[in-house]
Amino acid sequence: MNKKELQAEIMRLKKEKDICILAHAYQDHELWEVADYMGDSYGLSLQAEEAPQKNVIMCGVRFMAETVKTLAPEKRVFLANASAGCPMADQLTREDVLKLKEKYPDHTVCAYINTTADLKRAVDVIVTSSSAIKIIGNMPDDKILFVPDPNLGGWIAEQMPEKEFVFSGEGCPSHRKITADDVKKARELHPDAEILVHPECMAEVTKIVDFAGSTTGIMKYAKESEKTEFVIGTENSIVDHLKIECPEKNFYPLSPKCVCDDMRITTLEDVYGCIMGTSGEEIFLSPQEIEESRKPIDRMIELGG
Ligand code: 13P
Ligand code: SF4
Repeated sequence: MNKKELQAEIMRLKKEKDICILAHAYQDHELWEVADYMGDSYGLSLQAEEAPQKNVIMCGVRFMAETVKTLAPEKRVFLANASAGCPMADQLTREDVLKLKEKYPDHTVCAYINTTADLKRAVDVIVTSSSAIKIIGNMPDDKILFVPDPNLGGWIAEQMPEKEFVFSGEGCPSHRKITADDVKKARELHPDAEILVHPECMAEVTKIVDFAGSTTGIMKYAKESEKTEFVIGTENSIVDHLKIECPEKNFYPLSPKCVCDDMRITTLEDVYGCIMGTSGEEIFLSPQEIEESRKPIDRMIELGG
């Protein structure tokens, strides 16, 4: 089957088998085209409960499929490519967090959604890049232990100096490759462009650019801006999407190194195989894991709106 035939077959089969296909913004455009919903991590979480279908295929990484299973345990949830993990999500375990809680007993533990379901069982609240400011801003707690991305955490802390933050974890290996020197070079090469980055970038980058926001936040900003040139500092798939969606504007990657192999691994063939039961992986979580990891995710949705 060529690409168009494969897409048509996926569209036909997903209706026949009552499947909702969710795609994260970093997925290939050809996957967006067969998805029922495309969005950032926060948007994908909301879709878990809203989707009317009994089955969900996640085109993204493992923690995203786990979040869907946690929020909609009655659905069968599949990760389209079983190898798609998030290296940042594997940096800290639940045991690490329990030790940190002993060290910081009066801190509220706030975890980025890019964490395992098991780790989420030990934390107070989950945030995503698009919801973090609202959620932590709405919490009365003034001492925050933030895991596992000190760059996103530092960007949040910068905007709420009244709260005290401690960080653990190393952050996203792909976004950490972008440097202040890349920004300096981009300003020289494209003096009229606006520079838009993800808050997973280091502080030396987020402090000197025009906008920092989630994957869909970056795309919305570029679409709505009157400017016609943009340098994009996040996984480089966003540059490709914006070129397709706004052909009248120009987009350049801030660094060719900002590529996440895990986000790029899923293909249309994987989705087809997942529907046919020959590839992908069904996500199973125990009732205890679901009950405990759901609490901080529910708090995210309650405070994030
Ligand atoms: P978003 O919440 O912005 O989609 O980010 C998820 C992610 O993994 C970014 O690296
Ligand atoms: Fe994880 Fe970074 Fe890849 Fe996002 S881009 S999935 S945070 S490694």
